[in-house]
Amino acid sequence: MPVIENLVREGPEFREKASAFAAMVDELRDRHRWALQGGGEKLRARHVERGKIPVRERIDALIDPLSPFLELSPLAGWGQYKNELPAAGIVTGVGMIAGVASMIIANDATVKGGSFFHETVKKHIRAQEIAEENRLPCIYLVDCGGAFLPEQDRVFPDRDHFGGTFYRQCRMSAAGLPQISAVFGGCTAGGAYIPALSDEVVMVRGTGRIHLGGPPIVKAAIREIVDGETLGGAEMHSTVSGVSDYLAETELEAIAKVRDIVGALNWPRKSPATRGASRAPLYDASEIAGIVGADLKQPYDVRQVIARMVDGSEFQEFKPAYGASLVCGFAHIHGEPVGILANNGVLFSESSVKGAHFIELCDQRRTPLLFLQNITGFMVGLEAERGGIAKHSAKLVYAVSNARVPRYTVIIGGSYGAGNYGMCGRGFRPRFMFAWPNTQIATMSADVAANVVTDLRRASLTRGAVDEEEIARIDREVRAQYAEQSSPYYATSRLWDDGVIEPEQTRDVIGLCLALAAQEIDLPDNRPVYRM
Ligand code: COA
Repeated sequence: MPVIENLVREGPEFREKASAFAAMVDELRDRHRWALQGGGEKLRARHVERGKIPVRERIDALIDPLSPFLELSPLAGWGQYKNELPAAGIVTGVGMIAGVASMIIANDATVKGGSFFHETVKKHIRAQEIAEENRLPCIYLVDCGGAFLPEQDRVFPDRDHFGGTFYRQCRMSAAGLPQISAVFGGCTAGGAYIPALSDEVVMVRGTGRIHLGGPPIVKAAIREIVDGETLGGAEMHSTVSGVSDYLAETELEAIAKVRDIVGALNWPRKSPATRGASRAPLYDASEIAGIVGADLKQPYDVRQVIARMVDGSEFQEFKPAYGASLVCGFAHIHGEPVGILANNGVLFSESSVKGAHFIELCDQRRTPLLFLQNITGFMVGLEAERGGIAKHSAKLVYAVSNARVPRYTVIIGGSYGAGNYGMCGRGFRPRFMFAWPNTQIATMSADVAANVVTDLRRASLTRGAVDEEEIARIDREVRAQYAEQSSPYYATSRLWDDGVIEPEQTRDVIGLCLALAAQEIDLPDNRPVYRM
């Protein structure tokens, strides 16, 4: 395959851009530290005193030694709830267990007792969606107080609320995707259904509890007074009710049992024979920061970014002399074939139909698609409209929507308006979607939005005469609103993506995602497992 020529020259401009980008990466790392601290020192100490292992250490013990763990949306909840909901109280991600790529969904009991806020449910459901689409067994490390009661209207009743997580559990089990739970703490109400709907359940003696209603609910409902251990302890459930299948004396024993269960799944595997060998890019990924910089308005050649992500910096570019603002081409990432679509400016009619054509090629050749999104939108104006930009851009959106191959999106710059749609934004359900810390996601930029909203105000029939002071105030307010809401942290806090990642990590993260799809097996006809 042709190799992309290295056009990057270190100089003052490169260094300035690199240092501006480095500041954003530092900020991202700071915020990831916030996510790692869980409910803070005091609650962590109480957790450990009770003989319980912190959530990420449980995951470390569960996955195969030295294997990667792709944690999803660690900054969910960031900037909301007075910043008291690190990682939204739940850790999700993909890891290898006994050689089987698995989705791990683990409550952090140090964050409000592992109870579910809106973002917790969203994160749980998103992890299940990823498991379903990539055919991964689900392992639930349960330590969960059910719905966070003050937020019940944002957690309980709607389709994609708590009930939706159980619906997905049942459907995945019936589709042959194993659902395994280990219970480490008090699991009440919704928390109780996670193990109750699992194919196999392990409980830890002394700390693991399962009850549909805990002692206070039982007392209020039927005036029965009973302690938690008698009502729903591990021994009772493993020897009397049969809600649990295995009784573990310690958390580590429970984790080892889960590893044994996964090891005995008889999980079918595809031979990796079709995969090529992984080759590092020729150029250093740390240079991406100096190429991209912090100012979204400064253009650069996206091929120089691609050259630092793909195997051997090799890129078979499709239609290089046509529709130049969308770079399309074939490459490999960690040995997996991939078709890349990357923005190099605004999308015109030519670039849109080129993109649609390229997607069709990849779809026919079963090559997964990677969208590198840095887009202000499709071209506007008289000439573009007369040239049929509406129908040509729609062809790209149509092709993106109907491609049968796995699709992945990384937002590497702006993600505005219909450009977000044409480049496989969240609404188009890419299998995974990540963003870099320099990105902006909104209908339009703050400048354009302020102009549109002030023009609308001037033209308003219903809101009376206008004065310049009011216009200036609206302008300020719209700019402030867009500045806050366009931030990648605002987006990732609300689960509009699967996490903010550093440019240097992108190759490994996407490589792992591609490998999951490549290993995907066809499941035989399956039947659900009903707990007996
Ligand atoms: N709703 C609201 N707040 C909850 C909660 C829930 N479901 N579960 C826990 N919390 C809060 C606690 O009030 C406490 O808040 P604070 O730090 O502001 O005081 C914090 O989470 C930690 O809870 P705590 O009880 O101290 O932790 P624990 O480890 O000793 O016990 C539980 C954890 C989950 C066993 C226990 O909190 C519990 O039983 N919660 C209620 C469960 C319930 O009835 N759920 C029904 C949901 S429909």
